[in-house]
Amino acid sequence: MRTVVLVLCLGLLALPVQADEFTEAVAKLGLSKEELVEIGKLVYHAEGKNTCLYCHGEGGHGGNQAGAADLRHPKTWRAYQALGGDEAFKANKEEFLSKMETALHYLIRYGAVVFNTRWEKRLKDMGIHYDWSKVTVPDKADKYNNMMKGITTGPMKKQLDEVEKLLEKKGKKVKDVRDIATVAALEYVKTLDDGSDKGGVFKSDP
Ligand code: HEC
Repeated sequence: MRTVVLVLCLGLLALPVQADEFTEAVAKLGLSKEELVEIGKLVYHAEGKNTCLYCHGEGGHGGNQAGAADLRHPKTWRAYQALGGDEAFKANKEEFLSKMETALHYLIRYGAVVFNTRWEKRLKDMGIHYDWSKVTVPDKADKYNNMMKGITTGPMKKQLDEVEKLLEKKGKKVKDVRDIATVAALEYVKTLDDGSDKGGVFKSDP
């Protein structure tokens, strides 16, 4: 009996980190990593105001929105710091990145207002706990700046129609293009990591 319990426990430990709903939706499409980054690049470069590009700038910096994160430097992001920063990252990279990416998916998909009011708490129930006291970015608020709108603005929605058309051309039928765009946008943002001492979170990924 004891052996059975032990084997079951070891089995649970060996399970890969649970993928979130967005990652699962993407997995069903069978896109290559390159295709996903390409789609993310398209999402990011939506035209108009209040888009990723408008707020964050080309290459992830120098955009028009005050306080917008520098996307070359993931170690300066709230998600990285609130989830335990360098210490947690080094202790278990795979688990840390999975949690960080899940949190960022919800932030990008729903924007900061909804993240602050709803998802932070739900993520905690999922074992993804933001400790805001660990955040050292200049504005130490215990929530996200409401100006982080992710894919929720009008110009972003227009671009998502383009993404849906592109996927249709590839013969990929999607249930909700927003789920795909969310994951793709983050995959593109990950390529902007400049590997400096403020980056190096995604850069070393194989
Ligand atoms: C209207 C402006 C605006 C738009 C549109 C916007 N962002 Fe942001 N973004 C911000 C601001 C402001 C922050 C800083 C939030 C904070 O520090 O509380 C931010 C932060 C982030 C962060 C860091 C999160 C963290 O944990 O600190 C990432 C990653 C990000 N944005 C990606 C994106 C992507 C990808 C898009 C497009 C799909 C996007 N943003 C669209 C303004 C914007």
